[in-house]
Amino acid sequence: MATSAVVVLMGACVAAPAVGYILAPFFRRRGKGFEAGFEDVGAVDDVPIGAWHLLSLELIEQNGWDKRRVTQSVWIRRRGPADSDIDVLSPICPHLCCHLNWRPDASKFICPCHGGTFNSDGNYLSGPPPRSMDPLEHRVESGRLLVRWQDFKNGVPERIPVLA
Ligand code: FES
Repeated sequence: MATSAVVVLMGACVAAPAVGYILAPFFRRRGKGFEAGFEDVGAVDDVPIGAWHLLSLELIEQNGWDKRRVTQSVWIRRRGPADSDIDVLSPICPHLCCHLNWRPDASKFICPCHGGTFNSDGNYLSGPPPRSMDPLEHRVESGRLLVRWQDFKNGVPERIPVLA
């Protein structure tokens, strides 16, 4: 009887990784493999009102068995004291995915790769990007700003989420 239990246990040990390997694609987020959900980027009151600030958030990237933390950044602006006065933009250029820089002296976002520009609301101004900057879903809970990271298809005028 004890021998049977050992055999069953050994079988489970051998089978578990194989089952996990087969099922992993069903549990990972499509696209870059980030787990869906809102991530905490910090206390709302720590973000001064008026200017754009680059904050970071940590995501879990999963590819099969490989699961690791990665850091992304997001552009955040508080236009006023209310929770509804918050704008969150992806820093990824919709042309070829370079990271956009905020230039307060010019009141523009500028892409370092091919010179695409966007106004202070993230709307397209000039250059090769096919659309405006991509807004990110966000909410405030207990004074904390939560942001849902999302990748979008680059190089097209439509805002198409790379899902998940
Ligand atoms: S990647 Fe931004 S303009 Fe080309």
